[in-house]
Amino acid sequence: MFHYIDGGADDEVTLRRNTSAFDDYELIPSQLNDIESINLKTSLFGKKLDLPFFLSPTGMSRLFHHGKELAVARAAETHGALYCLSTLATTSLEEIAAAHPGPKMFQVYILKDRGLTRELVARCKAAQYDALCLTADTPLAGNRERDLRTGMTMPPRFTLSSLWSFATHPAWAFNFLLSPDFSLANVSHRVDALGGGSMALIDYVNSQFDRTLTWRDAEWLAEEWGGPFVIKGLQSAEDAQRARDIGASAIMISNHGGRQLDGAPAPMDCIEPIRDAVGNDIELIVDGGIRRGNHIVKALALGADACSIGRAYLYGLAAGGEAGVYRSIEILKTETERTMALLGCREVTNLNAAHIVKRR
Ligand code: GLV
Repeated sequence: MFHYIDGGADDEVTLRRNTSAFDDYELIPSQLNDIESINLKTSLFGKKLDLPFFLSPTGMSRLFHHGKELAVARAAETHGALYCLSTLATTSLEEIAAAHPGPKMFQVYILKDRGLTRELVARCKAAQYDALCLTADTPLAGNRERDLRTGMTMPPRFTLSSLWSFATHPAWAFNFLLSPDFSLANVSHRVDALGGGSMALIDYVNSQFDRTLTWRDAEWLAEEWGGPFVIKGLQSAEDAQRARDIGASAIMISNHGGRQLDGAPAPMDCIEPIRDAVGNDIELIVDGGIRRGNHIVKALALGADACSIGRAYLYGLAAGGEAGVYRSIEILKTETERTMALLGCREVTNLNAAHIVKRR
């Protein structure tokens, strides 16, 4: 489970670069500014958010903790953070909506069964999701060699080589046996690819995802939804312009946490060219490599409207369920506030190019 969260594609060059790219930028403090109160509040697609970062969609949270996506949604709700639920979640979107009345988004993978996509859109409308997010970077699965090595499947299988690991994590193994609710809760009633057995994620994605998707499909989905629409997984200025042209409200600059195309650039390095290309016509969310509050501040200063985190809260979920996710968010929130204070900037919405410089 750890390697599934922690790992990336191929040589994990992009995975490492996502975080190390932040070191190439320096924050320029401004002193004597009365930083008694720091305001992290911002907004995305017209929704007020208490924090300038939110929780990215991540699949199959039941693998990591029996609290599943519900634990994540509850911790996000307590912090006033936006939560984005994944198509490949192990909790239904309706259950999440009940636990998280605050701002929420649903992430869509378009599977070969188009009726399923229409159904998901209708269910999101009924459950009053605030935004829909299409992931565009997964026409097929990246080559995650750690998963090949560990033999990771969904649901997990007890094998000879995994027995030691299960035996040394008794609490996880106990809950695995006690609540084996590993189904892909939003899609399995229509796409029962697992058929009661288990499967490697790479095989699931490669057999079920629609590889024929084009911008016309993105446009169709935006129209079908009719509300705030986000495209996740873009990195080029051209793609950002196309997203704007089909009416997307925001894009998530993301390389899927280095889990898809190894060799893709760090999202932090894509902000400036994309902002230059699209101006202020579309909101930019930076997703990838964020492990510190100062990473969030740097991305916002460079022109992002918000950031999102994946692994940073999954480590917390795996370690401590809802309390672990709560603590992960709290650590990042406290670090962001401290960075803002030391930078001499009271409002995250006031961060700008004067606060940051790229190292020569
Ligand atoms: C799912 O989206 C994954 O990256 O594992």
